[in-house]
Amino acid sequence: MHPHQNQILILDFGAQYTQLIGRCVRELNVYCEIFPFDVDAERIREFNPCGFILSGSHASTYEDHDTRAPAIVFDSGVPVLGICYGMQTMVSQLGGEVENAARHEYGNARVHCYVPSCLTGKADRTLAVWMSHGDRVTRLPAGFEVVGTTENCPFAIIADASRHYYGVQFHPEVTHTVNGKELLSRFVHDICGCGSDWVPESIIRNQIAWARAQVGGDHVILGLSGGVDSSVVAALLQRAVGDQLTCIFVDTGLLRLNEGDQVMETFAAHMGVKVVRVEAESEFLDALKGVVDPEQKRKIIGCLFVEIFERESRKIDNARWLAQGTIYPDVIESAGHKHGKAKVIKSHHNVGGLPEDMGLQLLEPLRELFKDEVRRIGIELGLPEKMVYRHPFPGPGLGVRILGEIKKEYADLLRQADAIFLEELHKNDLYDEISQAFAVFLPVKSVGVVGDNRAYEYVIALRAVETVDYMTASWKPIPYEVLGNISSRIINEVRGVSRVTYDISEKPPATIEWE
Ligand code: XMP
Repeated sequence: MHPHQNQILILDFGAQYTQLIGRCVRELNVYCEIFPFDVDAERIREFNPCGFILSGSHASTYEDHDTRAPAIVFDSGVPVLGICYGMQTMVSQLGGEVENAARHEYGNARVHCYVPSCLTGKADRTLAVWMSHGDRVTRLPAGFEVVGTTENCPFAIIADASRHYYGVQFHPEVTHTVNGKELLSRFVHDICGCGSDWVPESIIRNQIAWARAQVGGDHVILGLSGGVDSSVVAALLQRAVGDQLTCIFVDTGLLRLNEGDQVMETFAAHMGVKVVRVEAESEFLDALKGVVDPEQKRKIIGCLFVEIFERESRKIDNARWLAQGTIYPDVIESAGHKHGKAKVIKSHHNVGGLPEDMGLQLLEPLRELFKDEVRRIGIELGLPEKMVYRHPFPGPGLGVRILGEIKKEYADLLRQADAIFLEELHKNDLYDEISQAFAVFLPVKSVGVVGDNRAYEYVIALRAVETVDYMTASWKPIPYEVLGNISSRIINEVRGVSRVTYDISEKPPATIEWE
């Protein structure tokens, strides 16, 4: 996107932790990118890194002869850090030997460093590290020395100080490796000589200059959803091109309580962003009438969103650019998926087809950023913390949280119950400990006693989960008193609800959403 002076290139050999290495390096305020290990040498040359990090892998150096670092890595004269498999392939490519270890090492270990090195500092220190490997180095290439060993691993840290090549058998990028961040910092800052210039202010400055140069005098449109990514794009482009930006906010009628007003308040009233608010509740409710199948509901909501967005964008003169909140994990090419993910255009409303149909060019100012960086620049740009650290909300919104047919009456009840739930989580300092929390509307009537009479009223289910990747999730053990209070508030304050239940299912097999 734009040149960085100090940058690290991470070559991915297919390990599950490669993105974590990238995030650690970025947290050290150094720009880095991740390329698959078999990328064209030309792209590496163009990237011109100050250092390479070779990731781990499931591969084995003596079985997978093709899974090797490209020659340019060792020809370019810049420092190299090999992590786990990355160290093994470096050893094997430079003339050493790697074998299948009699004992596999997995879990915590202690490395004793006998000699000083630029990677580990002074001699005679012990590092608590996390290991996961079957193969191990048995003979070092010429020029290398052993820096540290564990009980089972005689070559836990190796170095060739004259060529600035380093290898670690453990994983410095995981939190279990207590001094991992320190080692990575020594590598990128001291050994590669990278400055700490990748900080929110400079990211914002760069992206503003880049966006201005791209857009020139043209007009940009952006689908604002109220989610973190599109909100940060709006705030950034407002600084970059001001009045040349028009945001389109489609109120589907399936949003959370007062969400539309909050978006208008934050962006239009406080930040002076031009926002077109499209009131489309009745259009969505009409299109969804009588539909009970979850996937069909998703399809209808997605298609109608695109139709409305397109209709509104055509009203904006001079629009040449469509801005999107695509972030780095959406576009990283990992080993084995070289041509897969890169072309995917992310949008939870599937507006991906729009630029082609409408002759718009894509503008993706967050394309280089990890989610935590997006949040940090969002705060720096003055967005409210509550917006930046909000739980994710699915594109179809309450459409998949009202089971079966969607009706306005149901959406209104659900919005109120959901708002009470979230308010109580905030009040009890639980919101930030939870990855995603929401209420679900069950269209069944259960018996309750209202006054002296039996009444048959609706049921609300509460869901709160903790997860890192949203692929697996655990239900959150919320204290009983808090749950009790939430339940009485919902039953007392939301007319039409007489029963509240708490969902204690794990994912898998249950999904996070109920539909
Ligand atoms: P599940 O329910 O599959 O959800 O465990 C995992 C994560 O994905 C979100 N989700 C969606 N997001 N469109 C979206 O943009 C959808 O159709 C959709 N369905 C689920 C869900 O909220 C959770 O964060």
